[in-house]
Amino acid sequence: MEKKKLVFSGVQPTGNLHLGNYLGALKNFASLQKEMKCIYCVVDLHAITVFQKPEELRKNVFETVASFLATGLDSDKSIIFNQSSVSGHAELAWILNCVSRVGWLNRMTQFKDKAGSDKEKASVGLYIYPNLMAADILLYKATHVPVGADQKQHLELSRDIAQKFNNDFDCKDFFPIPEPLIPKNVSRVMSLRDGLKKMSKSEDSDYSRINLKDSADEINKKIKKAKTDSEQIPDNMQTLQKKPEALNLINIYSEISKTNIESVLREMSGKEYSFLKTKLTEIIISEITPVGKEIQKLLKDKAHLEKILKKGKEKANIIAEENLKNVREKVGLI
Ligand code: TYM
Repeated sequence: MEKKKLVFSGVQPTGNLHLGNYLGALKNFASLQKEMKCIYCVVDLHAITVFQKPEELRKNVFETVASFLATGLDSDKSIIFNQSSVSGHAELAWILNCVSRVGWLNRMTQFKDKAGSDKEKASVGLYIYPNLMAADILLYKATHVPVGADQKQHLELSRDIAQKFNNDFDCKDFFPIPEPLIPKNVSRVMSLRDGLKKMSKSEDSDYSRINLKDSADEINKKIKKAKTDSEQIPDNMQTLQKKPEALNLINIYSEISKTNIESVLREMSGKEYSFLKTKLTEIIISEITPVGKEIQKLLKDKAHLEKILKKGKEKANIIAEENLKNVREKVGLI
């Protein structure tokens, strides 16, 4: 019998969501809800692995829910809630902390990047963050996880943890081994200032990213300033691959315009980058500014957002408690 498919994914409420979050994750969230049962979580417990001002955190949770809805999630179809409202995430994370291995966590490149040069000063939470991520997914026995490429290593760890739990407690197939769903074309949207760095909320310069709430004017300015070179647009992939900033802009254009890269290159080769930038600006404005306006509108009705979170929490909690009951039993907890 085929296993029931269940999608789970999470987004940190740590400020402005950007075009990378949108193309790498949110856009897929909305299309997946048409085919499968989906659970989407605002992962506030992940956010506090780095200090957050309490007022800012609360505001960002609402903003992330508003972004979910503005990009097409429907709370009647998908379960939408915030992680800390379902205590099972923290409980399962503890149990999985005891399954996961220090050696596995030591290999996580995102911890190394985020902790920076002084790892001694990073929070313990930041170090064990990938175990909490595994708990998020396994708490619901999710089978599919839509994420950008930057989360691939964490997903592999979740698979290892699921497998080890099933082995240790002699319960083959208890946790499904979750499959990552990583977009083929734009799995990693890069910074507009440095084509070798991913577009990120934490990058200092706001010119490095297009935020979902940016106005048409801001998008225009950011794309104008985006780094390129003084040559013309190449006519082949081999040359484009050596120009990470140009490749990034063309990838974004190709994805939003739903045109494959070869056709884009055929249309644009030999032209100045200003030609690409004009077209890219138009297409990003038409895709993103309606989302930004919808976020602003939704944020005016906090009671509505609270209602959605409450409904999601209740539904999520039922699945979580049922699964946790079985986990406790497997582990021998009374
Ligand atoms: P977070 O909040 O950093 O990002 C949310 C989603 O956006 C994707 N993403 C990108 N995709 C393409 N290009 C980019 N530049 C880019 N930047 C971000 C991320 O891959 C992610 O899909 N650890 C996760 C949150 C999480 C989670 C989970 C995800 C917690 N528990 C369980 C899946 C399942 C994170 O920090 O995502």
